[in-house]
Amino acid sequence: MTAALSPIDKAKYIAARRAVEFVEDGMRVGLGTGSTAAWMVRCLGELIRDEGMKITGVATSARTAELAREVGVPVKTLDEVRWLDLTIDGADEYDPNLNLIKGGGGALLHEKIVATASDQMVVIADLSKQVDTLGAFPLPVEVIPFGWQTTKALIEEMLSNVDVLGRSASLRLNGAEPYCSDQGNFILDLHLRRIANPAQLSLVLNQIPGVVENGLFLDICDVLVIGNADGTVEVRDINNGTVEHERIDITDTENLFVDSAE
Ligand code: 5RP
Repeated sequence: MTAALSPIDKAKYIAARRAVEFVEDGMRVGLGTGSTAAWMVRCLGELIRDEGMKITGVATSARTAELAREVGVPVKTLDEVRWLDLTIDGADEYDPNLNLIKGGGGALLHEKIVATASDQMVVIADLSKQVDTLGAFPLPVEVIPFGWQTTKALIEEMLSNVDVLGRSASLRLNGAEPYCSDQGNFILDLHLRRIANPAQLSLVLNQIPGVVENGLFLDICDVLVIGNADGTVEVRDINNGTVEHERIDITDTENLFVDSAE
């Protein structure tokens, strides 16, 4: 049944499958949002079901919480748990220093809070997310709905003073309406093409009234797991400076694929 999965889904699954090896019995685990993170949540469900592992999940979005409950991962709020051992999440882009752009799925605010409240962040991705310099993927910025057009104008004005290649912002839509985050905020996508100084940009963005948070995750990711459709996986640990290559045997995972394939 693995044939039902596209190569990109296989790559995402492989990354997720390797990443859950970081999870130990009794851990409090931050559960990311997005299609790659969804594979990780399903893998955790398998670990709980088949190996009796006990973990507590803190979801970064309502849809991740729903999936976690569906597959048997117990979910608590961050306020109940306070601090996490590990967060596993996807990314829209990663650079050689494991800095990230996140928020393509609109969950960047909760994702950043949860990742920051974790001893370790493991990011799961495929090679399509790899860049030399961040910025090809539009940078999501969460803004409050009140006065969002003024906030957008202030952001665009600020962009004329930073080293980026593009300077336009667009309101993310859900059909004809503005997309709303779980927090009830809007998302502005900044089309920057190349961000020469992500740390500076992150700081100045967050100083603009109306901006709640931006999708630059800088110095937060500890380990990057890159899955490939052929079952190979690369694990980069930024703290140890190690890069390991492994192969995941997917022959025993058919039930998971059957459950998940549309
Ligand atoms: C959601 C995110 C996701 O991690 C990011 O968009 C990657 O998603 P996918 O795994 O579906 O490519 O930041 O806000």
